[in-house]
Amino acid sequence: MIMTGESVLTEIKNNVLVITINRPDKLNALNKTTIEELHETLVEAENQKDIRAVIITGSGNKAFVAGADIAEFANYSIEQGKQLSSTGHFKIFNFIENYSKPVIAAVNGFALGGGLELALACHIRVASDNAKMGLPEVSLGVIPGYGGTQRLAQIIGKGKAFEMIVTADMINAQDAYKWGLVNYVTTQEELLNKCFDITSKISSKSPTAIKTAIKVINAGYNNKQNGYEVEIEEFGKSFGTGDFKEGVSAFLDKRKANFQGN
Ligand code: COA
Repeated sequence: MIMTGESVLTEIKNNVLVITINRPDKLNALNKTTIEELHETLVEAENQKDIRAVIITGSGNKAFVAGADIAEFANYSIEQGKQLSSTGHFKIFNFIENYSKPVIAAVNGFALGGGLELALACHIRVASDNAKMGLPEVSLGVIPGYGGTQRLAQIIGKGKAFEMIVTADMINAQDAYKWGLVNYVTTQEELLNKCFDITSKISSKSPTAIKTAIKVINAGYNNKQNGYEVEIEEFGKSFGTGDFKEGVSAFLDKRKANFQGN
């Protein structure tokens, strides 16, 4: 069982943890409680072997997450602003990017500011056709502070990222798809099914190899690491895992692999 809190609902289905950010009357804006509960939920799920992937979505049919809670930070000082950003990076955004299981953002409506940054921190994004995405922070006199200045450029390229950030414009799901911001666009009804199609493929593969692949892909975006060197190291280590032995013997025996994630 995974905790369900005040602002975060959870359900485990088909070996997937579905997390629903649940503040629909505030368009699921991320306040301190939500960040804390989301973090605790992810920590709790990390060591549960039966959970092979995570889907994050928003409650209701209007918003994924409409940003950080503006009312909460309205009177923050410089120091509190810095703290807000660094706590968020540590507890949610970097945490999700480096999570050991694939995390999919099911973007079911507005994904603005911290909401788009949440989707950007996830490994895969799928949007419903009503979704609107943007980083509107400069309209409030701030900049994206949950990794948006970095990850948006990594995902859609520097030119489009500059445009989105300095104009504060929202883009629709079709443009997001064309720009490579989301992998798929579906109807709102089909959104979770599409995510489950992806997770069903993930669930039958080696959890150990998937965890390593996430680590190595991210290493290439970390300027303190050399992604190629990390790849060589981790590729080698794969040969010592139980999942490798199982995967190869299943192939040679012409049977389906039964990975234990070891
Ligand atoms: N933080 C806090 N509250 C938020 C919020 C946010 N990021 N986004 C929406 N809300 C609240 C609204 O204040 C409103 O609360 P109220 O009913 O108590 O007044 C409620 O959610 C509904 O939002 P509302 O603005 O009435 O809906 P809308 O359909 O008219 O507009 C948006 C939708 C998304 C365009 C608009 O809510 C918006 O611009 N939100 C802020 C987006 C943003 O700048 N995010 C980046 C933050 S750094």
